[in-house]
Amino acid sequence: MNVLLIGSGGREHALALALSKSPQLTTLFAAPGNPGIAKLAECVTLDVTDHQAVLDFCRVMKIQFVVVGPEAPLVAGLVDDLDKAGIPAFGPSKAAAQLEGSKGFTKDLARDFHIPTAAYGRFKDKASALAYLDAHPAPIVVKADGLAAGKGVIVAMSDKEARDAVEMIFGGAFGQAGAELVIEEFMEGEEASFFALCDGEHALAFASAQDHKRVGEGDTGPNTGGMGAYSPAPIMTEAMSARVMAEIIAPTLIGMKARSAPYKGVLFAGLMLTKDGPKLIEYNARFGDPETQVMLPRLQEDLLPLLMQCATGQLRSEPVKLSHRTAMTVVFAATGYPENPQKGSIISHVEKAEAMSDVIVFHAGTKREGNHLIANGGRVLNMTGLGSSVREARDRAYAGLDVIDWPEGFCRRDIGWRAL
Ligand code: AMP
Ligand code: GLY
Repeated sequence: MNVLLIGSGGREHALALALSKSPQLTTLFAAPGNPGIAKLAECVTLDVTDHQAVLDFCRVMKIQFVVVGPEAPLVAGLVDDLDKAGIPAFGPSKAAAQLEGSKGFTKDLARDFHIPTAAYGRFKDKASALAYLDAHPAPIVVKADGLAAGKGVIVAMSDKEARDAVEMIFGGAFGQAGAELVIEEFMEGEEASFFALCDGEHALAFASAQDHKRVGEGDTGPNTGGMGAYSPAPIMTEAMSARVMAEIIAPTLIGMKARSAPYKGVLFAGLMLTKDGPKLIEYNARFGDPETQVMLPRLQEDLLPLLMQCATGQLRSEPVKLSHRTAMTVVFAATGYPENPQKGSIISHVEKAEAMSDVIVFHAGTKREGNHLIANGGRVLNMTGLGSSVREARDRAYAGLDVIDWPEGFCRRDIGWRAL
């Protein structure tokens, strides 16, 4: 089977590595891919915002399955257009991707289908939002409704911070994404990420992970896409996973069907494990980055048929085969990330890390120029280590990082501290 993978990050490198092992695969294409993916797939330049161009490519190259990595093409309806053309694709339709695209949509779904989540209000104007804050003192959480690159959430510890957040969002800080906002109750507990494969009707638990969102050690500084992650999340016991499947994932699939937007693809649930049980913080409509770089190395079966079954509505019920080992990934980022990452510096000795056992180097923001590997983004490399414990996985990930020569890069040295 010829497969087209869309995306260029560390998540897509991890997907490419897993897909490339499939006995069912003939040729893997990636658009646009990256230098790490280029060792596993044929990288092609294709404007994925031009859906007709993607369809034409699929026809010419006899693509039988498309795997969409990032959220933007999902929200733009790429899967809908592939579907109409009879090309199966992994990922939700535009309507179903609203679970990530609109926080208000997800909150209303949770209310209507009794999915445990924080109490909330939705607002389109400043006066009513501020009136709600008068009645609900801090701590409280203010969120832009739409996609705001992870920056649209303000956890306000004081009333002033909450009011400032409302002013900022309605003042246009996030453009259209802030035309509406959600204000919700502050939840206390430990956070975990949970992933379930879905075929519109059925869901299958995939794996759990925990990540570090803040750029600085001790979980300080601005939010990022994630500076590191590990899988499994020790707090996500089998009993807790079963609860999340029954109380959160299952009613979500029922609700999405009732909204005429059956959910296919992977549901990435951000959870708060509170004293009253697991509660939904938010959904993403895709695999996590860097969570995928720790989940897929634990997969002990062929990924391709599992993703295909999501697309064709024939997801099996037999549990996913995952190694009991721990995987940890540490993000190697360019100086200045997240505000202003410096591009263009040379990275050396990646092959030394690649030669280490139980170490996998995933490329995220790199490019090749002649014989040089060049930093070309904020999050540049992800170093995954595998081990029989969190400590062993961590030691391997950092051992891998330490052989790389890249003075312009930095990483957090405390990934996994909560689990250790
Ligand atoms: P989100 O983008 O919705 O995942 O929010 C980003 C982060 O804000 C989450 O990972 C949590 O740490 C925090 N957060 C969001 N909503 C809440 C809430 N209702 N209570 C406490 N923390 C929250
Ligand atoms: N690491 C969080 C995300 O992929 O959204």
